[in-house]
Amino acid sequence: MRLNKETIDQIQQAIDVVEVIGDFVTLKRKGHYYSGCCPFHSEKTPSFTVTPAKGIYKCFGCGKGGDAIQFIMEHEGATYVEAMAYMAKKYNIEIKEEELTQEQNFEQSEKDSMLVVTNYASQYYTDQLWNSEDGKSIGLSYFKERGFRDETIKKFELGYSHDQWDAFTKSAIEKGYKTEFLTKTGLTIERDNANDSGDRKFFDRFRGRVMFPIHNVAGRVTAFGARILKTDKTQAKYLNSIESVIYHKSKILYGLFQAKQAIRKEEECLLVEGYTDVVSLHQSGVENVVASSGTSLTEDQIKLIKRYTPNITILYDGDSAGIKAALRGVDLILQQDMNVSIVVFPEGEDPDSYVQKIGPTAFKEYIKSTKRDFISFKTSISLKEVGNDPIKRAEVIKDIVESISKVPDAIKRSVFFRECSKLLEIDEQILISEYNKKALQKGQQEAKKQISEREAFAALPELPEIELPDDIVRLSLEEESLKMHEREMMRYLLNFASSTMEQEMPLSDYLIHELQDVEFKNAAYDYIIKHIIQVRLRGEQVLHTYFIQQDQPEYVRDAAIDLLSTKFHISENWEKFQIIVPKEIEVLNSVVPKTVLRLKRVVLKCMIRDNMKEIDRIQKEGSVDDLMHLLQVAMQLKVISKDIDKTLGIVVG
Ligand code: CTP
Ligand code: MN
Repeated sequence: MRLNKETIDQIQQAIDVVEVIGDFVTLKRKGHYYSGCCPFHSEKTPSFTVTPAKGIYKCFGCGKGGDAIQFIMEHEGATYVEAMAYMAKKYNIEIKEEELTQEQNFEQSEKDSMLVVTNYASQYYTDQLWNSEDGKSIGLSYFKERGFRDETIKKFELGYSHDQWDAFTKSAIEKGYKTEFLTKTGLTIERDNANDSGDRKFFDRFRGRVMFPIHNVAGRVTAFGARILKTDKTQAKYLNSIESVIYHKSKILYGLFQAKQAIRKEEECLLVEGYTDVVSLHQSGVENVVASSGTSLTEDQIKLIKRYTPNITILYDGDSAGIKAALRGVDLILQQDMNVSIVVFPEGEDPDSYVQKIGPTAFKEYIKSTKRDFISFKTSISLKEVGNDPIKRAEVIKDIVESISKVPDAIKRSVFFRECSKLLEIDEQILISEYNKKALQKGQQEAKKQISEREAFAALPELPEIELPDDIVRLSLEEESLKMHEREMMRYLLNFASSTMEQEMPLSDYLIHELQDVEFKNAAYDYIIKHIIQVRLRGEQVLHTYFIQQDQPEYVRDAAIDLLSTKFHISENWEKFQIIVPKEIEVLNSVVPKTVLRLKRVVLKCMIRDNMKEIDRIQKEGSVDDLMHLLQVAMQLKVISKDIDKTLGIVVG
């Protein structure tokens, strides 16, 4: 899909960054900006800011920043087009698509084309479930037998694939979908040797199964899980989509799209194993639930949950395989500073079967009353296994301490030590000293690594002492200082482009004039300033939002966000005692010219340095003429440099 320009403009104008982000983050007004706790990393004191005048957000803790559209893309895992569609819906704007030429059609990205195919497939499978003879008599009646109601089946867009070779593929090809993307998504399988039997070249991956579409966080179908209906021991119960650029099993959680609101509201995410567990629990009114789809949780999946809540409760089947699966990988969750609890079901039950057996009310009660924090759960399970064996007991203690040591938060750690000392009937101090021993060992390993690196360095043959000229020693310092001054200059340019200097001259024009022979080292700044010159030559206003838009190169966007969101340093006390701090905009006239001079001063220093190096070289191998010329340049540079120093009031010894 390609949005037309008018729609993009309409959306851009409608967006209120505080309103958009306010739907996800509680924001407090602080003068000209808003602040809140960052949704992209966990924190207790707010370092996330939203500046409505500039239309941007920026977190000073984790560094994330951008405009409202970028926020939706990051937060919801959406593509640009999806984020725009979200905004259009929010602000009631009708989306108009651009007519695609054949060429543009071809250019449309592979991912988009694949998503179009998977979403068509999902529609096809649901249509077949509700409207075809087999779909109704086989697929739908299977779901009904399992106790799924119509509205639940619709909510999860469950479907049915015919028990025929190519029913889906044929329909998709008829509708004009390209076989390239049908096979890339794995929905269609291409036969290599079409000559051995008949002429059928393409056939369906999913045949005679009920279909569970898997959505990404933005709600697009990216893959399917498909359950067999017959009891056929030779075939897998579930067949899943293949891994592809739109579907990475380890990065997706089944049901997250349907659950995310509830997870935020309940401040808890329930984690189950299977597709049917998710569907069944939703039907019973437990909506904050996702499935890892039969594999142990990955780090990516944990981070996905962490966007919505720090609290995970694992609901696992009551067999020992289920419990082992629950224990595995939990250290990974603890490491992410998440709070992990566990609920185990009676032998032979899974969340789906159990909720259908005892009903929603009793089920919720069961979760509440049997939920245990992970550490104490692990402790009691392990203890049951060891009995009275003292060696095994010691191993358990080590193992538990290992788990606790993964918890980054010191207060939480100490609570766990207390709790486990009771369960293990062992002095808390012993656990803590075991922990300290570990930490010490780890520290020593680190130190050893560092020492060996240092030793390796020391072992290098010693270099003969040479006297380095001053300018080379200063080199890195000057580069640093240049970077800093360029940034400061650009900050004024981008934030106050349209403010006026003396004689009503826009600041942008003043700077363009002043900096015409300064070449910016930073590529993003160079890009920005060149663009601003173009805009001013056309007589248009400079919009600072221009550089943070999605069609800009990423390095330019990052630089622009950085420039637009420099942290405010004024302490609250100043405001409290009503000390008046002049606003930057009020002192532009005096500050900006100085900033220009400071930048020029550093640029000059660098030029002088380069010139001196060149003189050095020419003295050895160049002509007298060249040398004379360079010496002249050197003199001029020194004169200008002195001039600048004088204006800035810098006394040079
Ligand atoms: N799974 C899979 N491939 C299999 C078996 C299982 O991908 N061959 C995944 C599925 O995501 C499944 C989950 O592991 O939902 C849990 O498996 P299981 O407990 O066997 O299935 P249930 O979800 O309980 O399905 P049902 O109740 O229909 O038997
Ligand atoms: Mn089941």
